[in-house]
Amino acid sequence: MASSSSSSSSAAVLLLLTLGVVALAEPVHFLDCGSAVGKVQVVEVIPCSVQPCKLHKGESYSVNVTFTSDVWSQNTTASVHGIILGVEIPFPIPEPDGCKSGITCPIEKGRTYNYLNKLPVKNQYPNMKLVVEWKLFDDKSNLLFCWKIPIEIV
Ligand SMILES: *[C@@H]1O[C@H](CO)[C@@H](O)[C@H](O)[C@H]1NC(C)=O
Ligand SMILES: *[C@@H]1O[C@H](CO)[C@@H](O)[C@H](O)[C@H]1NC(C)=O
Repeated sequence: MASSSSSSSSAAVLLLLTLGVVALAEPVHFLDCGSAVGKVQVVEVIPCSVQPCKLHKGESYSVNVTFTSDVWSQNTTASVHGIILGVEIPFPIPEPDGCKSGITCPIEKGRTYNYLNKLPVKNQYPNMKLVVEWKLFDDKSNLLFCWKIPIEIV
């Protein structure tokens, strides 16, 4: 009796730990690809327990980019590409307007923002490894940020 109750409570602890790991937002390693008028501090992809992130078809992932702007900007627009064998392919995101993605516009110089968006992985994408490149432009088409991360679609 005692042993069965202790094993079920350790199973509960294990379950909690596992859920905790999945829910915990881990910063991902990124490469800066030319952020000209801003500085990327942290990129989070949730969930992504192992890197490179394995993204499952039919699922949607949360992206949280902490960045600081060097400029004032009335508006901001995002553009996402997949890079496959050196070729950039547009990756549609549901909301390209950065002002509707956790950022209060206008963007102020010297302020730090959390850019929040979703990365939906369509069912029809093939299984493959690729690089995701995420750009955010200011109102003069300069890059507030550009970062890229390797991912794997599974
Ligand atoms: C986004 O990331 C920053 C830095 O890690 C964190 O402080 C903030 O709470 C996150 N926001 C959301 C909505 O997850
Ligand atoms: C952003 O602001 C610039 C400068 O005011 C303007 O030319 C441009 O049309 C705006 N873009 C969007 C998507 O609102």
